[in-house]
Amino acid sequence: MPAKAGTPYLDARDRAPRDRGGPMNGLLISFEGAEGCGKSTQISTLAARLRAGGRVVHLLREPGGTPIGEEIRHTLKHSTENQAMTAEAELLLMNASRAQLVREIIRPALAAGGIVLCDRFFDSTIAYQGYGRGLDLGMVQAVVDFAVGSTRPVLTLILQVPSEVSRARLESRQATLPFMRDRIEEAEPEFFERVNNGYRAIAAAEPERVRIVDAEGSVESVQAEIWRHVGPLLAGFPSGNTAL
Ligand code: TMP
Repeated sequence: MPAKAGTPYLDARDRAPRDRGGPMNGLLISFEGAEGCGKSTQISTLAARLRAGGRVVHLLREPGGTPIGEEIRHTLKHSTENQAMTAEAELLLMNASRAQLVREIIRPALAAGGIVLCDRFFDSTIAYQGYGRGLDLGMVQAVVDFAVGSTRPVLTLILQVPSEVSRARLESRQATLPFMRDRIEEAEPEFFERVNNGYRAIAAAEPERVRIVDAEGSVESVQAEIWRHVGPLLAGFPSGNTAL
């Protein structure tokens, strides 16, 4: 039944300010990929290079990146009570952490002209909760849109390694840190195959924003490839911005 004009619900919605997040002068770049793709090393190397060039860089991770987000991260990954978590709860918790990070850190950082490097952002939700867990993609997209509003990366790099490499790195990490149980990493290999299919679909759907980087080579060669994508964004982007 169509809602009547003047219902309290519609009035409230019409009055709500649109979630644009204010003027954004900085750059938001996100990094994606399966477990063991080498993201963290590459992001830190890139951050160091940008800082050496006088840029103000904020290095963030998801889920997490704020005190609230880090608590949510613990619940999602490591808490002893998280075994029974449903895919729906997982979707909402990922995006609760994200909604906090966007408003507490990312928007102020971008407004001040900083460069924000995010170790995972909303494409992880599409790939893991959408393709991996099999939640309805339209619903997943709606939740993501609510969490981020207009705050979207200008560039997303998906670091890709063959699933055998990813699996082997994951197993060696689990063997080295057996006490660090991780609920998501415990999923079956088919889950990670679906996640990788999700990333391929995302890259195919948004070729302007999303680029796949072959991450199997040496740290240096992968970093050079990353720089080929990031470097051009810096042209005309002043260095020495005011820190937050
Ligand atoms: P990581 O920081 O070690 O990559 O761990 C984050 C885990 O959370 C990883 O398994 C991917 C998963 N994840 C999702 O399932 N959905 C999301 O939206 C995000 C940000 C991460």
